[in-house]
Amino acid sequence: MDELLEHFERTVERDQRIEPRDWMPEGYRKTLIRQIAQHAHSEIIGMQPEGAWITRAPSLRRKAILLAKVQDEAGHGLYLYAATETLGVDRSELTENLIEGKQKYSSIFNYPTPSFADVGVIGWLVDGAAICNQVPLCRTSYGPYARAMIRVCKEESFHQRQGYELLMTMMRGSKAQREMVQDSVNRWWWPSLMMFGPPDGDSPNTARSMAWRIKRHTNDELRQKFVDMSVPQAEKLGVTLPDPELKWNAEREHYDFGEPDWAELKRVISGDGACNAERVEHRRRAHEDGAWVREAALAHAAKKKGVAA
Ligand code: 3HC
Repeated sequence: MDELLEHFERTVERDQRIEPRDWMPEGYRKTLIRQIAQHAHSEIIGMQPEGAWITRAPSLRRKAILLAKVQDEAGHGLYLYAATETLGVDRSELTENLIEGKQKYSSIFNYPTPSFADVGVIGWLVDGAAICNQVPLCRTSYGPYARAMIRVCKEESFHQRQGYELLMTMMRGSKAQREMVQDSVNRWWWPSLMMFGPPDGDSPNTARSMAWRIKRHTNDELRQKFVDMSVPQAEKLGVTLPDPELKWNAEREHYDFGEPDWAELKRVISGDGACNAERVEHRRRAHEDGAWVREAALAHAAKKKGVAA
């Protein structure tokens, strides 16, 4: 065992990849299943808030862009479930864990999307936050996860750009459209900061995940990076970020910003957000409605193998 552990630790220290057939500590495998499955669940649940606007998009162009984006999220979920399955779990078990509340998905998707400006702000801020979090994961120590992230990040930059371009268009529009964008920014700014997780001092998993080079930066480091990236974009857009403490700190060479409402994050994570029940119920119904597709695929596979279904 010591030799195997030594080889594992040396591989991680050298920034080389751990592959599915390599020996790995059980805690490493469990942490990966937890994080990658939650990441996958977040992608699939994340299709709902914007998906609700596909039939109501204001133009064919906006509809086509939104359709492509929501479809991408489904693909991201697929890559990530496939990466999780290399660790010996089955995606039907993961879907059950999600529906039964045994596994989490990102808090951000439990907020409502009452206006079309939310589609732009989700692209700009939520996918922007996802980019800050996912680019370092291209260097995560587990091979299948790192490789899944490369394509996800390429598509994520399209997601962020289309959202920002939508907002730029609305900000050149009527006063009502500008107010709609500002209202949306007010609602999504703080929940976007919470996507990066609790503060480092309150994060039970970060130290271990950093030691195994699953995570490459801490929650607070990535949050700071996101704030530094978003403030100039907000200025260019002509919107105000709802944080009176936001100020450039020349000494730190970062923006100082206020404290997110961690009690709200805890509440939303524990299921008490505005849309938690609706999101999980929608996922449960979609899974049940799709049972016939799974059964047909299994029957077809059995027939092809010449085995009676
Ligand atoms: N939403 C839900 N749960 C959260 C959370 C959030 N915003 N932040 C933290 N948590 C949970 C953690 O899962 C953990 O609970 P668990 O031990 O039961 O899993 C607990 O709160 C403590 O948090 P930690 O910081 O100790 O946990 P992690 O080290 O796992 O860090 C994380 C949390 C930063 C979200 C990390 O898991 C991560 O980087 N995950 C991969 C990226 C990801 O999942 N992003 C989510 C959004 S996906 C997305 O944005 C798609 C895009 O297309 C829009």
